[in-house]
Amino acid sequence: MNDFVFETVKKTIKKLKVNINDNEIKSLIEVPKDYSRGDFAFPCFALAKIMKMPPHEIAVSLRESMGSFPSVFKDISVEGAYLNFFLDRKKVIYDLIKRTEKEKDNFGNNEMGKETVTMIEFSQPNTHKAFHVGHIRGTSIGESLSRISEYNGEKVIRANYSGDTGMHIAKWIWCYRKYHSREEPRDDEKWIASIYVEAIKKIPKLKTAQKEVDEINRKIESKEDPEINAIWEKTRNLSIKSWEKIYKELDTDFNVHFFESEVEKRGKEIAMELVKKKIAKIDDGATIIKFEDKNLGTWVLLRKDGTVLYSAKDLALAEIKFKKYNIEKSIYIIGAEQSLHVTQLFKTLELMKFKNADKCRFIPVSEVRLPTGKMSSRTGDNVLYSEFMEEMVKFAKEGVKKRDKKIAKKELEERALVISIAAIKYSMLKQDSNRNIIFRKEESFNFDGNTGPYLLYSYARASSIINKSKFMGDLSPDFEPEDKETQLALKMKEFPDIVKKSYESLDPSEIANYSYELSKIFNEFYHSSEVLGSDKENFRLHLVNAFRQVLKNSLYLLGIKVLEKM
Ligand code: ARG
Repeated sequence: MNDFVFETVKKTIKKLKVNINDNEIKSLIEVPKDYSRGDFAFPCFALAKIMKMPPHEIAVSLRESMGSFPSVFKDISVEGAYLNFFLDRKKVIYDLIKRTEKEKDNFGNNEMGKETVTMIEFSQPNTHKAFHVGHIRGTSIGESLSRISEYNGEKVIRANYSGDTGMHIAKWIWCYRKYHSREEPRDDEKWIASIYVEAIKKIPKLKTAQKEVDEINRKIESKEDPEINAIWEKTRNLSIKSWEKIYKELDTDFNVHFFESEVEKRGKEIAMELVKKKIAKIDDGATIIKFEDKNLGTWVLLRKDGTVLYSAKDLALAEIKFKKYNIEKSIYIIGAEQSLHVTQLFKTLELMKFKNADKCRFIPVSEVRLPTGKMSSRTGDNVLYSEFMEEMVKFAKEGVKKRDKKIAKKELEERALVISIAAIKYSMLKQDSNRNIIFRKEESFNFDGNTGPYLLYSYARASSIINKSKFMGDLSPDFEPEDKETQLALKMKEFPDIVKKSYESLDPSEIANYSYELSKIFNEFYHSSEVLGSDKENFRLHLVNAFRQVLKNSLYLLGIKVLEKM
């Protein structure tokens, strides 16, 4: 709506040849506290200096030279130093409601992305290691950005990439063979992670251990030892299987799952090609790149014993992504602690004259901490997904049972899960991905705060009104909108622009913050206005129903499901 005010003012100012830039004009536009002063106002004080005229006279002259204005306005008038813009509220609201009723789940989507094929790589747990709370953050951001990109017309390929070879697997297998070989491996995330943690603790204490681990690492790569091959394959597959439940709960489905083991061979080849091209060199047996830019340091591609590192594998992965999947854009959602690695990767792609080096984007994801400290699967004081989730669902259940004493068991499970996921995802999506967060349970589940459950509650509240009514006849155009109703409708009207903004900035927090503001306005309306039984029932039901639709679409983009009842 702001845009209409901006365009109108800009056009007039241009006519008068005043020297002021667009952003300045935009920042001057106000929403008056008192609606008798219009829906928007443009103060002319700032122009007084430039035009060397009293502000009131400027307002008058702007109004006089304005000519015709967009039909969303009923009137534009001068008051003192202000131009006051009065919307044709009825028309604006009527059109908005009609549009949401026609477009439903598609309200807000657009073609801006022009069917660009984009690969979004996210989540990336490693086999034989914990899927921990930090992984939820990357997964939530990835799923949300995938949905936002699709809503803007792109074709998204959701990609996962797991380390299933390399030193950490060698450590795991070492520990398993030495201390647990009588146990039958199982797809139990906790069991798998505990062996890795044990390995990390024991290896530094035993003299020959690291040597043995190196030997296993070499054998995993060369595939020369059938016994190790068999353990590797079996436990790798069980790890992968243990993620199925997690992704189902997080409501994410990958189109492709890459593994480090698939890119090892090609990674080595690329490393050798880079030596030939003099981009890399052999240094004390290892293959390395020494970057000109001192900040980028040295990147080791192959170890002395010829085994391949994470770095070289990522070069091979980039190649597969573009060649095999014909993508036009590649987004990497990776932990912020790997920023240097990603910068080195992108720089190397550039040095290799990789055609698509400029089509790669990195979104760093910072840590999630619980109030008790950092979580990391290396040190063992990590918080596993399953442990974390059990606690959250238990907490959510207590709340549901208090509100709904007769709820059936199955329904209780389902509702508690949706509420938990909403609380967790929303707390992770509402902030900048590159800032650490401390996840506090009580805060994230608070029904009165800026939380996922608050949004779900607002949705359920709207649903309950609709369900209790005999909704609904067509919207009849003879309503007189009040301030709260207008505010709510104008906020809904912003949604399509917010969708574009979050796409351009690749930032789900735009959608999150919007959902919160929208719900706040709805709740203010709800507390001050009766819907059922009021003489404006027909109009208000349509308005509530439109709100329900817009909030649902907005939450969908965050990867959050709605509930008809809380
Ligand atoms: N699996 C890796 C890890 O846990 C993250 C993978 C990130 N993606 C990539 N293309 N390097 O550290």
